[in-house]
Parts: sequence; C-alpha cells; structure tokens
Amino acid sequence: MIRRILVLMGGWSAERAVSLVGGSAVTEALKGLGYEVSAVDVQERDVAGLLGVFRPLPDVVFNALHGRFGEDGCVQGVLNILGIPYTHSGVLASALSMNKVMARRLFAQAGIPVAMGMVVRRAELLADDPLPRPYVIKPLNEGSSLAVRIIRYEDGGSPLANREWLYGEQVLVERFIPGRELTITIMGEQPLAVTEIVTDHVFYDYEAKYTASGSRHILPAPLSPAVTDEALRLALLAHQTLGCRGVSRADFRFDGESLVILEINTQPGMTPTSLVPEQAAYIGLNFAALVQWMVENAACDM
Ligand SMILES: Nc1ncnc2c1ncn2[C@@H]1O[C@H](COP(=O)(O)OP(=O)(O)O)[C@@H](O)[C@H]1O
Ligand SMILES: [Mg+2]
Repeated sequence: MIRRILVLMGGWSAERAVSLVGGSAVTEALKGLGYEVSAVDVQERDVAGLLGVFRPLPDVVFNALHGRFGEDGCVQGVLNILGIPYTHSGVLASALSMNKVMARRLFAQAGIPVAMGMVVRRAELLADDPLPRPYVIKPLNEGSSLAVRIIRYEDGGSPLANREWLYGEQVLVERFIPGRELTITIMGEQPLAVTEIVTDHVFYDYEAKYTASGSRHILPAPLSPAVTDEALRLALLAHQTLGCRGVSRADFRFDGESLVILEINTQPGMTPTSLVPEQAAYIGLNFAALVQWMVENAACDM
C-alpha cells in the first residue's frame, strides 16, 4: 500500500523554476488523492541534506526534478541504493537520454532516423563550418534548449566567435531539419498522442518553451494517419531502445517526408500546461489520474 510520498523538486539545474511549478502541481494532486505528501526543494550539492529528507523512508519518491543530477541518473542512483521506488526512468536510461551523443547512436542502431551529425571540438568550430549551413550546435548534455543554436548562412563568421560556450570542449553539430516539431508521450508501453508545437520563435527555444505566448500546441497534430502511426511507433521504440520506464516524451522533427528524432526526455515537464498532462487529458486521464499512475508504477532498478 502506497501511503507516504516524497516529491523531489527544484534543484539547481537551469530548469529549476519549471521543476518547482511542476512539483507543486504534483504535490497538490497527490494530496487531493489522499496520499500523505511532503515536498522538498533539493539544495545545491547537499548530499547529506538529501539523505536526511528520506527519513522516515517514504513509500515512493515522485521525482519532479529536471536537468543535471535530477534527470541524468544521479538521483536515481541514490534512490536505488536506498531502495525507494521512484517515478520515471532508472539510472542507465536517464543517463543515456541525457547524453545526446549516446542516445543518437542507440537510436540509429535501432532504425530510428537521427539528423546527420557529429561531435567536433570547439576549436574546429571556431576555424570552419563542419557542415554546410544551416546546422545546429548543441551541448552534449543539457536540457531546455539553453545553448542550442541554429547557424545560418546569413549569420556569417564562426558560430562561436564573440560567443561564450560554457558547455565543454566538445560540441554536437547536427544538420538542421526544416519543417515541423512533434512530440509524443509514452506512458508505460503506450504512446499517447502526437502534438505539434508551433512557435513564432526561430526555433523551440527556452523562451518559447516556458512562456505562455511562446508556443502553441496542436493536439492531435494535423498529420496523415500513416505519419501519425509512424510517429507513435518510433516514439515507443525510442523509449524501449534506451530502456526508459514510466512516462517519457520523445521529440521529433518532420520535414514533410521523414520523421527525425531529436531526443527523449525522461523527466518531461509536469506543469498543468505541459505537453504530457495535455496528452494524458486527450486520452481521458486528468492530471490527478496521470500522477496516480506514475506513483503506482514507481520502481527501483532491478
Ligand atoms: N537538428 C535539428 N534541426 C532542427 N531543429 C533542431 C535540431 N536540433 C534541435 N532543434 C531545435 O532546438 C530545440 C532544442 O533541441 P533539443 O535537441 O531538443 O535540445 P534540448 O535538450 O535543449 O531540448 C528543438 O526542440 C528544435 O526546435
Ligand atoms: Mg528538447
């Protein structure tokens, strides 16, 4: 019987603010369901403090963290050690999903199309274009589009000239996939629906993601039944390929002909207006029912 639930939220990643909003919504929903709930804002690098919040041991941890440490397998490892079942993916799937280079390799191997791309050193990028423009540069592991940039013909010069790059010596470079942005929630072994994300911004950047007017969601995405089915199939395959658990969300580009996967998010946003709750509602599950399913399907790694 699950009675006591601890919600982990906040943290110190770039997505702290989003995590606090999602975590609070989850906390309220769980209280409404009758669980005994406490919520903790995880403090920066305070491992002793983190261990302290698990006394007394909760029956389940709802992990509402995003980004480094909360989404990349680190917190998941602590919970495995303590033997507390937690929501979402385990250590390996979380780490693989957070690392775009590793995830791309595994997707490609499973037959899921990825954008043509490569890892280059920062110095090489300063010297020359590694691909014909337009192309995209991104950190090997970060979330929230914080450092993702599209390099166009008209930008001129080196993509890193006069620009800070705080994400290490290596940079992932990908061909720019024109067209539309699609996202699919996977819940257990079921892909829920396809949403198209439309934005007036140059791309689905940080502001577009997290401001009310930044983007519009079209659900279901206006696609042919064949493309919809293929998107659902590839999303589930991606979730299974990385070994994800519980709820995840797969992001794709669609250029009118092919679907290309961008990434899997193992800790997708859980604010009331986030994509996952929206897709759950579309198949008839309200926010509380979604959260309850996640708690009931919480697990540790075997
Ligand atoms: N290869 C690409 N072609 C076109 N747009 C891209 C490409 N890669 C990323 N983008 C745009 O940048 C956004 C963020 O990229 P993504 O790889 O999902 O990183 P993040 O982990 O920061 O969300 C995407 O949602 C998409 O709009
Ligand atoms: Mg993304």
